[in-house]
Amino acid sequence: MARVALVTGGTRGIGAAVSQALQTAGYRVAATYAGNAEAAKAFMSRTGISSYQWDIGDFDACAIGVKSVESSLGPIDVLVNNAGIVRDATLHKMSRTQWDAVIRTNLDGAFNMCRQVIDGMRARRYGRIINISSINGQKGQFGQTNYSAAKAGELGFTRALALETARLGITVNAICPGYIHTEMLDAVPRDVLENSILPQIPVGRLGRPEEIARAVVFLAAEDAGFITGSTMSINGGQYMI
Ligand SMILES: NC(=O)c1ccc[n+]([C@@H]2O[C@H](COP(=O)([O-])OP(=O)(O)OC[C@H]3O[C@@H](n4cnc5c(N)ncnc54)[C@H](OP(=O)(O)O)[C@@H]3O)[C@@H](O)[C@H]2O)c1
Repeated sequence: MARVALVTGGTRGIGAAVSQALQTAGYRVAATYAGNAEAAKAFMSRTGISSYQWDIGDFDACAIGVKSVESSLGPIDVLVNNAGIVRDATLHKMSRTQWDAVIRTNLDGAFNMCRQVIDGMRARRYGRIINISSINGQKGQFGQTNYSAAKAGELGFTRALALETARLGITVNAICPGYIHTEMLDAVPRDVLENSILPQIPVGRLGRPEEIARAVVFLAAEDAGFITGSTMSINGGQYMI
């Protein structure tokens, strides 16, 4: 029986590429989204992958959502914590709302989702958890104290959970994408992208969502069981760590 993979924010951008790559690799895939029903509908009709709407920042909604996925598809063996948002501002202009929204989605979301699947993974002694962090959690980024803190937090979370689950057949890894061509980059002004960001990328271009998906499929594989607690940087050489 094919294993089940759940991808949060799996209907757009990097998540959509991840959902499709996992489907191609033979997984039964569930993709979640927050509110863009139109994009989710288009994604479903293009791929045949079922989509589920809930807010990953809401613990109880995650519990209900995961139950519903598991009752349709079966126990979740692969969880990709991909959903994320930005609310950029320099700290002296950042509102409490901007701070809370980013921590809640990017960091609380990873806890909320892992907490729903961890008991089942422990009982079955198998699991693959892949957290999509960011280059900006590794190096910091002007105007992103909230996002950099949440994404760095995800890296600590990854390593701690990897230690807790290492003997149980469960691996926990992080991927730190650099700048990837998705709608999230619409928040970055065009001149900043062209004059400040692109010149810093040695490969000379933005990454493609499929280039992140490739790494997710690699880490999700059964024979990737010796890779845990690791951080994979996929950034076109922008930040070598
Ligand atoms: N793009 C980049 O350059 C880049 C670089 C480094 C790291 N990342 C990280 O990669 C991940 C994906 O980024 P992306 O560029 O593909 O983003 P995106 O195109 O903006 O898509 C984000 C996805 O997450 C979902 N989402 C947002 N908030 C949610 C919530 N509270 N509950 C459930 N789902 C939620 C969205 O749902 P709706 O469709 O309903 O809005 C959408 O499906 C994020 O964690 C991001 O921080 C991206």
